[in-house]
Amino acid sequence: MKLSVIGCGYLGAVHAASMAQLGHEVVGVDTDPDKIALLSAGRAPFFEPGLDDLLASLQDSGRLRFTTDISEIVGATAHFVAVGTPQRRGENAADLTYVDGAIEALLPYLSPGDVVVGKSTVPVGTAERLAHRIQEVALGAHLAWNPEFLREGFAVADTLTPDRIVYGVAAGESGERATAVLGEVYESMLAANTPLIVTDYATAELVKVAANAFLATKISFINAMAEIAEATGADVTQLADAIGHDARIGRRFLNAGVGFGGGCLPKDIRAFTARAEELGRGESIAFLKEVDAINLRRRQRVVDLVVDALGGEPNDKRVAVLGLAFKPDSDDVRDSPAVDVAIQLRGLGAKVSATDPQAIPTARRLHPQLKYKSDVSEALAGAEVVVLVTEWREYRELDPVAVGELVASKVIIDGRNCLDAAAWRAAGWTYIGMGRP
Ligand code: UDX
Repeated sequence: MKLSVIGCGYLGAVHAASMAQLGHEVVGVDTDPDKIALLSAGRAPFFEPGLDDLLASLQDSGRLRFTTDISEIVGATAHFVAVGTPQRRGENAADLTYVDGAIEALLPYLSPGDVVVGKSTVPVGTAERLAHRIQEVALGAHLAWNPEFLREGFAVADTLTPDRIVYGVAAGESGERATAVLGEVYESMLAANTPLIVTDYATAELVKVAANAFLATKISFINAMAEIAEATGADVTQLADAIGHDARIGRRFLNAGVGFGGGCLPKDIRAFTARAEELGRGESIAFLKEVDAINLRRRQRVVDLVVDALGGEPNDKRVAVLGLAFKPDSDDVRDSPAVDVAIQLRGLGAKVSATDPQAIPTARRLHPQLKYKSDVSEALAGAEVVVLVTEWREYRELDPVAVGELVASKVIIDGRNCLDAAAWRAAGWTYIGMGRP
């Protein structure tokens, strides 16, 4: 099939490449010429494991091309909208400028029978509104909403082998056409028995925000337990292991630490709250405000632990911050707890040396005032406190004896509870975890 993908960020670039990998002929469109130049050269404009290899392997296939010219979507049957829906400045609600812009840009080039497929995370009610707009202008074109559940760091695998496919369609013939086209797009996945749930628009939109709200709640639940553990001397990691053995609860997403960040969970729970309030159902998900508050308190907790470890006097003290990305295997620093901790410590006068295997360029663009060291040994040199805030494998595998030779004072704050506390203590370190004695 001929497909187009509008927006070539973390979501769209991966989707375009993955659809070409499935055998479709894909054109990816983005307004950023630098991004398009890199993608056209077979290179990912951001760090995502496996994406560079996939793009390179598709270079000579003739099935994948990228352009800034939206008119090149003509001839494609399905048009995936994968642009961002960031948080509006100073508000909780989502900013739909890019989604609305993408739809308006598409409209003049749609043909009867084409299907526009929304993948962006949007407030419930958006698809209905956009479907009317498409009907108004592009007679005979259809709309489906097909949320994406990919995780950064696993984006290619999550796109090629999703654990479920969901699409929301209109009632009647329009919905039938959209379902048939998407059935062809995802044919190989459906043949492999990937569960498919076809819904109305509102359900499909809600599935996505509900999934992210649930995940965020699970993380904040365990972080709330960490706060109680801190007041009682209990160990939240053992607590998580113990409750996680109950299959109804499950151990995944029960890692207490500095909390969640990234381009999805934080802004999605805020946008969901804002939308529920608009619908007069604010109280139904008022708990998400608490989820957000617990999450943000964990960042403050890490900062407080560092300040305590420095005897309450952070000014001019050397602090090594290990990690900037919001999670390992990503260079994404959007709403990153790690960056937040580094910035706050610098604001308190500490001499912060921050490092990350991938995210220094993205962090530097947003926060040029921070001091970055690409070499972890240089970041650690002379540190009076080390704080680990992104659990990259290279940090989890640090040798406490060797690191002990580099620092001025052997104090480590493990903001992700990912180190072997006994090993670090045995090497003479003061080890401080999150919600652990
Ligand atoms: C998330 C959803 O998982 C994905 O389905 C959706 O499509 C987009 O949002 P992503 O933002 O890539 O994906 O990251 P995820 O792996 O969910 O992690 C989110 C944050 O939670 C990270 O900052 C991570 O460090 C944190 N986290 C995760 C915890 O603090 N504890 C955990 O136990 C798990």
